[in-house]
Amino acid sequence: MKTRILTILKETDGFVSGQELCDALHVSRTAVWKVMRQLEEEGYVIEAVRNKGYRLLEAADVMTEAELGSRMKTRWLGRNLVYFPETDSTNIQARRLAAEGCPEGTLVVADRQNAGKGRRGRSWASPSGTSIYMSFVLKPDIPPYCASMVTLAAGMAVVKAVEEETGLETGIKWPNDAVAGGKKICGILTEMSAELETIHYIVTGIGINVNQKEFPEEIRESATSIGLELGREVNRSALIAKTMEWFEVYYDKFLKTKDLSLLKEEYESMLANLNRQVRVLDPAGAYEGICRGIDREGRLLVELPGGEVKAVMSGEVSVRGIYGYV
Ligand code: BTN
Repeated sequence: MKTRILTILKETDGFVSGQELCDALHVSRTAVWKVMRQLEEEGYVIEAVRNKGYRLLEAADVMTEAELGSRMKTRWLGRNLVYFPETDSTNIQARRLAAEGCPEGTLVVADRQNAGKGRRGRSWASPSGTSIYMSFVLKPDIPPYCASMVTLAAGMAVVKAVEEETGLETGIKWPNDAVAGGKKICGILTEMSAELETIHYIVTGIGINVNQKEFPEEIRESATSIGLELGREVNRSALIAKTMEWFEVYYDKFLKTKDLSLLKEEYESMLANLNRQVRVLDPAGAYEGICRGIDREGRLLVELPGGEVKAVMSGEVSVRGIYGYV
């Protein structure tokens, strides 16, 4: 009910009467009044005038279920929203919900994670109040080997959303880290429950460094935040909603062909390593080459000194710039 009331307040130019809200939501005037009080306590400035009703004068800069819900413009993604002030890991919670049969597109958001997970078994530092930790559930009808391509589409959505919402120029470090100023601002962890040929569900978890000012020692050299790069704070709820909007667009395109043919060109335009020398950290031996883009399965195309082009699979290797992280 709070999300609906906030959405109506935001969409109404001027006053909305208490009676209109009661009729739309089938609740009492007292219930409406209570929600208005709660919203005011959270920092929203609401004008209440007898015989006119309520008018939103100023929205609060908060990340709550109601604020996120009122900003969501998607068709299906994030329409079922679960918010935790604190949880172990949004990926763990999304997997739990998926196993219990939640609808596709269910989005889990937390203000803080106490067991945030990174790739390759690493942890993901997740302090409160500054960053985005979110995971969503997908149930695509694709073979399991295609799941990693979804992650590339998620990276694109983050880059597009950050640029559109904040104006910060960002890029992708293959396969799906979003980078700004040569450092990482976002990591993505996709996990899957599948049998040999069928995916039960995919959980894509996205961590974005939004307003963080400090990083743990071990990542200080390679990590930054949007806020640090811009020199001002950014609204997390707006960025989440925008990322969801763009993911829907890219995911639809991906599902049309079940590969990245329709996304390849735009992905390459975002690729920070394109036509640059990269070092491929292959467990079988590191080598260098020039990054020439991706193929339609999302493999990185690396041109070796002799001219041969190698298609590098994510998961097997990691790629670094020659002079730094990107
Ligand atoms: C990486 O190592 O680059 C991937 C990091 C992914 C972190 C996000 S934060 C939200 C979601 N929940 C987790 O526990 N991990 C992902």
